[in-house]
Amino acid sequence: MMKILQKAPKNGLHGNLTVPGDKSISHRALMIGAISEGKTVIEHFLCGEDCLSTMKALQDLGVKIVRNGSHVEVEGVGQTGFKQPEKPLDMGNSGTTTRLMMGLLAGQNLDAKMEGDSSLSKRPMKRVSEPLKKFGAKVELSDQGTLPAVVHGKKLHEATIKMDVASAQVKSALIFAALYADGTSTIVEKLPTRDHTEIMLRAFGADVKTAEDGVTISVSGKPRLKGRKVVVPSDISSAAFFIAAAALIPGSETTFENVSLNPTRTGILHVLCKMGGNVSIVPDPNESGEQSGTIRVKYAPLRAIELAEEDVPSIIDELPLVAMLAASADGTSKITGAAELRVKETDRIAVTVQELRKFGVEIEELEDGMIIKGRENWNVQTQKLDSHGDHRIGMMDAIAALKADCEMELENEAAIDISYPTFFSDLEKITGGVKND
Ligand code: S3P
Repeated sequence: MMKILQKAPKNGLHGNLTVPGDKSISHRALMIGAISEGKTVIEHFLCGEDCLSTMKALQDLGVKIVRNGSHVEVEGVGQTGFKQPEKPLDMGNSGTTTRLMMGLLAGQNLDAKMEGDSSLSKRPMKRVSEPLKKFGAKVELSDQGTLPAVVHGKKLHEATIKMDVASAQVKSALIFAALYADGTSTIVEKLPTRDHTEIMLRAFGADVKTAEDGVTISVSGKPRLKGRKVVVPSDISSAAFFIAAAALIPGSETTFENVSLNPTRTGILHVLCKMGGNVSIVPDPNESGEQSGTIRVKYAPLRAIELAEEDVPSIIDELPLVAMLAASADGTSKITGAAELRVKETDRIAVTVQELRKFGVEIEELEDGMIIKGRENWNVQTQKLDSHGDHRIGMMDAIAALKADCEMELENEAAIDISYPTFFSDLEKITGGVKND
């Protein structure tokens, strides 16, 4: 399949958008709802393929879930209420489903096999199975440390774990396992990562504390979780594509409402400001839990930036976009400490470099990052872009194409459905569906 990508209208991008619900929060609402008592109602749920993989896996474990558009109702089965699945659980393309479910299944009274698509089956899973052992869990992986996996449910005991990778997926798996252990477990992160699991578990009644250092999390085992309503804010990682588009295309001014402003996720806004971007933020009134607000972005010329390891977690999914912005900024930008990008849905360092070079961008691949020479005008080398089966690369290509001086073509655009099925119709809303000459 192939999609024709249009260049931007001459007067830039304009309008208001409410982008779909946050992917990370949608996954967690399903999982935590499933192991709670009573009903959980989720509003503004993300109907992307990854979250649907989580929904299907939970249904295969005997959880009743009904979805009507972005409204979802989950009948919680309680902490150990999952049923032995009759067939392997299909994780699709979703790393979040796989890693979080390993933690959720480790203390259940069942054995579950997990399978994934070809991209997911190459991604590292030992980072979860190894620390889970400290709780007494048993997860078998392939010889390469990948899927397929078999989780053999066990009785778990408390543990103290010092993580050696900055990953919210791994952290969340460990927090889930800690819910099944007797006593209080402690998890120490390498760097602070997104804390949606902690925030949501607290809202459902668990005793999960984060120390002042921001990296030490203590979890009391066997809480009573009670189902509740979850209103999912819009995904800043989805809004980021249009935020970047407005920052890239002269004349643009766009507004995004009700976007997640969880401080562990707002790296893209800080980076854009540092690059000289024109960004204003109005927080929504917020009683507790996840923060959200309105983001307005106006075009402004950008300057180069340097990012290092400690900057990475809060911008991990937006780094391909940052490279794209740096490619039209004034000066040379450098991203380091981002080797994690190599184990995402694709090797996002290699693939970002490959795709941006098609626009004539001067970009160098580092083991753990990229060096990007910015310039005002690009010089398209080939019109054939490829998502490589990676949703975020496909969307980055579509945004970069706005700056090209000709029409571009995107192969494998269907991958975008993983996190943003309405991406192209939303893009049309802010380009006005304008076809250029
Ligand atoms: C996610 C965490 C991040 C991120 C992914 C979603 C999550 O992965 O890249 O898109 O929902 O916890 P890592 O935690 O492995 O960095």
